Amino acid sequence: MTIVLTPSLQEFIQDHLVDRQHTDSLKWDALAERFGDPSLLPLWVADMEFKTPLAVRQALIQQVEHGVFGYSLVPDQYINTFIAWQQKRHQVTLQADWLRFDQGVVNSLYAMVNWLTKLNDQVLIMTPVYYPFINSIKDNHRQVVSVDLIAGDNGWQIDFDRFEAVLSQGQIKLFILCSPHNPVGRIWTATELEQILALCHRYHVPVVADEIHQDFEIGSQKFTSVLTIANGRYQNEVVVLNAPSKTFNLASLLNSHVIIPNPEWRQQYDTFIKTIHQTENSLLGQIAGQAAYEFGGPWLDQLLQVIRYNYQTLTNTLADHCPEIQVSTLEGTYLSYLNLAPLIAADHIQDFVQRQCGLAVDYGRWFSPRTPTYIRLNLATDPAIVATAAEHLATQLALLR
Ligand SMILES: Cc1ncc(COP(=O)(O)O)c(C=O)c1O
Repeated sequence: MTIVLTPSLQEFIQDHLVDRQHTDSLKWDALAERFGDPSLLPLWVADMEFKTPLAVRQALIQQVEHGVFGYSLVPDQYINTFIAWQQKRHQVTLQADWLRFDQGVVNSLYAMVNWLTKLNDQVLIMTPVYYPFINSIKDNHRQVVSVDLIAGDNGWQIDFDRFEAVLSQGQIKLFILCSPHNPVGRIWTATELEQILALCHRYHVPVVADEIHQDFEIGSQKFTSVLTIANGRYQNEVVVLNAPSKTFNLASLLNSHVIIPNPEWRQQYDTFIKTIHQTENSLLGQIAGQAAYEFGGPWLDQLLQVIRYNYQTLTNTLADHCPEIQVSTLEGTYLSYLNLAPLIAADHIQDFVQRQCGLAVDYGRWFSPRTPTYIRLNLATDPAIVATAAEHLATQLALLR
């Protein structure tokens, strides 16, 4: 189905698009430091050029005008709106006492590794994967064990034989799942998730599921939480991490969730987490999150259309000029993973992307040494930026033939 920039979508873009240059934005203002060239067009960091919903900004303004930012409580209303969002959008039924707060999902990844494993233990991930997964294991002096996802004709697939072979050796103490999966863009099906959870159950391996991208359903595949698999049969063996930050562009407000249905695990987590930090909730993060969950649905629906439109621009432009380039099917996330291998060797990717195309991207080698010819492009941005990036890539790639 062709996605059209309807007048209402154009209005959404016009109302929400902002110039982030010179605003201390990591994506826009760290180009010289990170890429050695301040003039690159940035499509790297996973945040957006769109203002958060008006209701969120208004709620924040009200608190700013109140003028006090002292220690705060999490009101029941926050918890209720979050629970209602999970129920309505994802048919996940949460209980309020399962919920804990943290200041970012990456923070929680580090905490999970520390809590659930010991020094030198083996922690399993599926690569390529969002690189803080790898860092959270290495920085805590645990061993990374990775099972490679397989890029085939039907898109990225889990190598279940290898997954089970690794688990069956009995050394894995934790599996960290990325669902939906950054960077390959898969929304795992209920069948795949059940297979994962059944294997982890069989080999007594706890699962931490990072579901931060849950709200980005780009194609027809719907997101399923590990909490709902097999009518909740595995709830006591999983911890879910999520946040309103990716969905509503709130990353720097540092408000995220740790969901632990298992009461014994919860008790252990509460005891453990005190030893690393006494987390206070982020007042502004929680005010923003509450307004977003309460009023942000229509905004999100428009945003998803913009991402779909941008994905269409990218795939069409590449298909027209260089059909041999493989763009991973984008089911979830707003991040497109492209393999430039048919036209360019791994050693030349960085030079080609930066010098010839003028782009700043996430490189495939950051996510796995096995995907050095891939690049990841952020599509949650101005359609004009995506059109320019796609055009530069397509025309420069075509010249390589
Ligand atoms: C899979 C995944 N987890 C976590 C994060 C970051 O979460 P936070 O900003 O809450 O630390 C990202 C950001 O791109 C992500 O893609």
